[in-house]
Amino acid sequence: MNEIPVTMTVNGEDRAATIEPRLTLADYLRSECGLTGTHLACEHGACGACTVLVDGAAQRSCLVFAVQAQGAEITTVEGLAEAPGEPTAVQRAFEDCYGLQCGFCTPGFVVSVTAFLRDNPEPDDREIREALSGNLCRCTGYGGIYAAVRQAAAELAEAQGGAS
Ligand code: FES
Ligand code: FES
Repeated sequence: MNEIPVTMTVNGEDRAATIEPRLTLADYLRSECGLTGTHLACEHGACGACTVLVDGAAQRSCLVFAVQAQGAEITTVEGLAEAPGEPTAVQRAFEDCYGLQCGFCTPGFVVSVTAFLRDNPEPDDREIREALSGNLCRCTGYGGIYAAVRQAAAELAEAQGGAS
């Protein structure tokens, strides 16, 4: 099969590769970039485990061909924190609230919740539940996950209030 050159920015780093057009963005990130924090479970858009930010929007990377991300800015779970050892408010909240059990779904949740709270910094209960409905946790740890979103929202609101 003919290979195609593709360039994109991944976690702030310019990446160039020549790849088969059938390669998904998820597989590109895992196999070509070595960013295995993006997990694959259903591989058909149902579970959200593979969620990454594409030009800031949360997207399921198993449903996007890497060549479709030509020129895009990608952020994976590895790129959310400012620096190693400095987790984001969302990442800290998942740990504090026991929002993970086996942790397989966690990267997808963390990326989805990060985008959700950026777009909706003061969500109500219904909005949080609706936002979480796009990601599946097979350990059914939704109580802790829900609490983590509440904690992160409160912390981000406080930080915003403190900054103004
Ligand atoms: S692996 Fe992409 S949505 Fe499930
Ligand atoms: S913590 Fe195990 S699948 Fe969610």
